[in-house]
Amino acid sequence: MKTTTQVGIIGAGPAGLLLALLLQRKGIASAVLEQRSREDIEATIKAGVLEHPTAELLRQLGVGARMDREGFVHEGIELAFGGRRHRIDLPELTGGKTITVYPQHEVIKDLVAAVLAAGISIEFGVTAVSLHDVTSATPSIRYEKDGAAHELRCDFIGGCDGFHGPSRQAIPQALRQEHLKAYPCGWFGILCEAPPSSDELIYAQSERGFVLLSTRSQTVQRMYFQCDPNDHVDNWSDDRIWAEFQARLANGDGWQVKEGRIFQKGIIAMRSFICETLRHGRLFLAGDSAHIVPPTGAKGLNLAAGDVVLLSRAITTYYRQDSEAGLDAYATQALKRIWRGEHFSWWMTQMLHDFEGEDSITRRFRRAQLDYVVSSRAAAMSLAENYVGLPFEGIESV
Ligand code: FAD
Ligand code: DHB
Repeated sequence: MKTTTQVGIIGAGPAGLLLALLLQRKGIASAVLEQRSREDIEATIKAGVLEHPTAELLRQLGVGARMDREGFVHEGIELAFGGRRHRIDLPELTGGKTITVYPQHEVIKDLVAAVLAAGISIEFGVTAVSLHDVTSATPSIRYEKDGAAHELRCDFIGGCDGFHGPSRQAIPQALRQEHLKAYPCGWFGILCEAPPSSDELIYAQSERGFVLLSTRSQTVQRMYFQCDPNDHVDNWSDDRIWAEFQARLANGDGWQVKEGRIFQKGIIAMRSFICETLRHGRLFLAGDSAHIVPPTGAKGLNLAAGDVVLLSRAITTYYRQDSEAGLDAYATQALKRIWRGEHFSWWMTQMLHDFEGEDSITRRFRRAQLDYVVSSRAAAMSLAENYVGLPFEGIESV
């Protein structure tokens, strides 16, 4: 079957769903294709931290009500090292800005409901997705659903299909400018039934490796510890996991992590990746399809949101003013914010993780950097400004 729309969007992650809503607000039609089921995308555990501009964007799009009711506004984070904890006061250092802890799969539920309520089609469970004629004025996406072949013809394709999707691969390798850095560690993430151990997120550096204590509610906690990227969750019994958290967080004053039943475990790879070629003809990449950050800075979802704000504006300018200027500028504008987020994520990662085989000077530099961040207002301000999120340019006109 053949269908037509203005913007064909591949992927119903944060990037694809936000793009569909942003376009709809400007009267531009789109259709979303997603390979997984609705239940699956609404249950996949990923991010937790929404930057100030992302939370504002959700409110402006009319999808912030549940986040405001059920999410947690945090006014600080703690950096733990050398047996002590140091607070970074976010509003005090950023002129009043905060972060919101609200799980990505809850954001996805809110976005899916809003997209469907706006009458935008999301086809779940599509297979064999392929992109065609992307450098012509009439690109199309072919796919299969329930054994039948389909073609979605459009003016533009939004490649929002994450790191492993087909969109980036549709740009010839020779034209893609890519940068990759793999880190020699992963994050072991758990969800557990326990009360919060702290009112705020704790990012802890120790000689046994990094730990992050985050939260989901008064009864469910999200925690991570640095691990070997090739390790396997089966090697970690609950007792061994708790012993590792306690050892890495020991601070001499008797404070301990609150333990509880662990009901989810997983290992996450750590890499920095940027495909600077965000445009190929009528195909535009946004979100994880174009860039990946190590999770330490909590930037992935937030960078995806920044991309689609710019992309939706570029597409709107095309239809309203019959001008390609916005489309031509998309990559340059988006890459500024992407590189900032990439650098911050790398910076947080190298400051907080110890890597095997490092020389002693690197370890001492790490400690000097941590000491500086918690003792200099200028250094703390820089961390806080990046952590709460730099403004999306012109967000008020979304
Ligand atoms: P995705 O969320 O990957 O969505 C892409 C969608 O495309 C998926 O639904 C996928 O099924 C679909 N797709 C793929 N291939 C196809 C195909 N062939 N056809 C159709 N559909 C396809 N970020 C933060 O900002 N803050 C955090 O605190 C944070 N913490 C994180 C913690 C963890 C454990 C992890 C794993 C990530 C974290 N991130 C965080 C990163 C964040 O989750 C991602 O950056 C974000 O999901 C990117 O959104 P996206 O829409 O670009 O891609
Ligand atoms: C969470 C994940 C992150 O990567 C981070 O930096 C902070 C919080 C989380 O899942 O809650």
